[in-house]
Amino acid sequence: MDPAIEVRDLKKTYRTPFARRKVEALSGVSFSVERGTIFGFVGPNGAGKTTTIRTLMGLIKPTAGSAKILGHAVPSRKARAQVGFLPESPYFYDYLTIGELLDLAGRLFGMSHADRKKRSDELIERVGLARARAQSLKKFSKGMLQRAGLAQALMNNPEVVVLDEPMSGLDPIGRKEVRDLILELREKGTTVFFSSHILTDIEAIADRVAIIARGVLTAEGTPAELIRRTALGVDVMVRIAEDAAIDDLVAGADRVRRVGDQLSLTLPVDADVDAWLAKSRERGAKVISVAQRHETLEDLFLRQIANAGGSAEGRV
Ligand SMILES: Nc1ncnc2c1ncn2[C@@H]1O[C@H](COP(=O)(O)OP(=O)(O)O)[C@@H](O)[C@H]1O
Ligand SMILES: [Mg+2]
Repeated sequence: MDPAIEVRDLKKTYRTPFARRKVEALSGVSFSVERGTIFGFVGPNGAGKTTTIRTLMGLIKPTAGSAKILGHAVPSRKARAQVGFLPESPYFYDYLTIGELLDLAGRLFGMSHADRKKRSDELIERVGLARARAQSLKKFSKGMLQRAGLAQALMNNPEVVVLDEPMSGLDPIGRKEVRDLILELREKGTTVFFSSHILTDIEAIADRVAIIARGVLTAEGTPAELIRRTALGVDVMVRIAEDAAIDDLVAGADRVRRVGDQLSLTLPVDADVDAWLAKSRERGAKVISVAQRHETLEDLFLRQIANAGGSAEGRV
């Protein structure tokens, strides 16, 4: 089966008409999203997330490369009918009610009156806006508007959902609600592709994560794989006679501490931990603990961005 989303060597250069300046927003981005999975697309502001998503939705044309949704090259009406989309900072006619907004979205997908009514009632409940049914969107808070946007993106019961920063501007409870909704969608077999500039929004729920910085993917994998790349060494602690010679045990190690009969240190990432433990036992040592030392995924993320050259602004 075709992947839900496939992006191959996507490039996009924006040309600003007056300043005669070129901005290379994407410099060859490739990834694919398997069906029924949650894919998190994370990167700082200006990294190229929205440009990638707008290309996927057929709203802008890439300078080079290709994108497919459910096997159809974009833009494709057939693919669009099976995709739900939440744009970044969505704008709605603010004199509408949530019911009217969803009815309008249903009409655009050619749904019957009965289907529109049933589906919008369901979704209004699901995103927790039942009590705001009579209000116009003008009175909605940022969080309520975001939920209205999510409901709108789900109106056509899509197979693939593309959400551009669905958690932006939400408080911690709002962020959790969006995370739960995304997990619920996957349970039903829906594919969810969503972007965020905050890694923790993504690592908790995504099956795969891609990190983008300055228009280039700097890392891609499962959250566990990315975490493995954050290994800093192995912390070991042993009990050893106070007068035992330990020079060869501490050679090459970091953070060496010997307090009484307790010796603790950090072995390098590539150390042979088994061999080290065997050697220490020959010296009469008893193992107390062995644990991997990690940097956080957030540190890895920041390092990837720094390696890619920092901020994406003002680039030619
Ligand atoms: N319409 C546009 N015209 C010119 N430059 C743009 C346009 N849209 C985005 N850019 C630039 O392209 C880069 C990527 O932007 P964007 O895709 O919006 O990033 P993100 O969504 O990750 O914040 C930024 O440097 C941004 O300023
Ligand atoms: Mg964006």
